[in-house]
Amino acid sequence: MFEDLLVWYNGKLVPWKTVTIPVLSHGFSRASAVFEIFGIHVGPDGPAAFRMDQHFKRLMRSVELLEMELPYTEDELAEAVAETVRVNNLGRGVIKLMAFWGEEAVIKLVLEGKLDVAIFPVPDTPDLHLDSSEPISACLSKWRKIHPETVPVEAKACSNYLNGYLARKDAKNRGFDTAVMAGTDGFLAEGSTESIFLVKDDVLKVPPLGRVLNSISRRSVLEMAPVLGIPSSEETMLPSALLDADEIFSAHTGIKVSPIDRYEDRTLNAPGPITAKLMAAMQNILTFKDERFLHWFQPL
Ligand SMILES: Cc1ncc(COP(=O)(O)O)c(C=O)c1O
Repeated sequence: MFEDLLVWYNGKLVPWKTVTIPVLSHGFSRASAVFEIFGIHVGPDGPAAFRMDQHFKRLMRSVELLEMELPYTEDELAEAVAETVRVNNLGRGVIKLMAFWGEEAVIKLVLEGKLDVAIFPVPDTPDLHLDSSEPISACLSKWRKIHPETVPVEAKACSNYLNGYLARKDAKNRGFDTAVMAGTDGFLAEGSTESIFLVKDDVLKVPPLGRVLNSISRRSVLEMAPVLGIPSSEETMLPSALLDADEIFSAHTGIKVSPIDRYEDRTLNAPGPITAKLMAAMQNILTFKDERFLHWFQPL
C-alpha cells in the first residue's frame, strides 16, 4: 500500500519494502524497540508537525529509561522528518519513528551500541480514521495495566503494547471498540492505546502520571482546559468513577478526542458539552485557526 514511499533509515532514504530486520534481531525477538507517532497537518505555510518537540523529548526519555542510546540528536531527527515529508510529498498523515536494535542476537540478552532509526511517512487514508469524531464504546478490561515497577510504563516501548493488544482484543471479543484498564493497585489507569478522561460536575478528570504513558494528547488536553475555562484535575480514581461520570472520552494522537457513548452497560450522551468544547477547540488548533496554539506546530 505504501510501497512507493521512501523511508528514512539510518540517514538514507530507501524504498519502504527494503526496511527489514532479521527475525532473530534483538529488536524483534527481545522487543527492544521504542517508537513515536505524531501528526502532520497542512497549514498556510505547508506541512507542519504537531508537537514534534514533545514527541522527541519523550523519545529521548524512553531511550534513557531503557538504558539504550540513540545515534541522533533531536535536531538531527527533526531534519530527518522534514526530509522524509518533503521527499514523499506527504500532506495530512502521520510520522511513525521506530528506534531498535536491528542486529541479530541469537542468545545475547544485553546488547551494546546505538539503536537503528527508521522514519516512516504514513499518508492519511480512510483506514486510519484520523481525526474521526465518531463516538466509541469502551469496557473495563480483565487485563491490568502493567505495573510501573516491572517495565517503565512512561516509556513508549513496543513491548508495552502487548498489554494494550490484550486489552483491545478482550474489548473486541466483548463487542466494544476499546478497553479501559485498571492498574494492579485497582485504580483507573488508561485505555489500550489511549488516555481516559472523565467529566464529573463540570470538572475534567484524568488519572495522574506514574502508572500511565506520558501521552502528548493527554498533556495537550490538560493545557487546553484552563484556556477554555474548564477546571481540571489529575487524580487517583477507581474505575467505578466511570459509572457515574457525566462524560467520558479518550485521547490519542490519531484521533485527538474521541467521545465515549457506551461504557459497559451504560449509555452516555456523547459528546457531552465539555467533550464537545474540547473537540471543537482541537479542531480549530489542528486547522491553524487558533493563534494561541500555533507554537504547537513545527514547520517542516
Ligand atoms: C497506553 C497509551 N496511552 C495513551 C496513548 C496516547 O498517547 P499520545 O497522545 O502520545 O499518542 C497511547 C498511544 O499510543 C498509548 O499507547
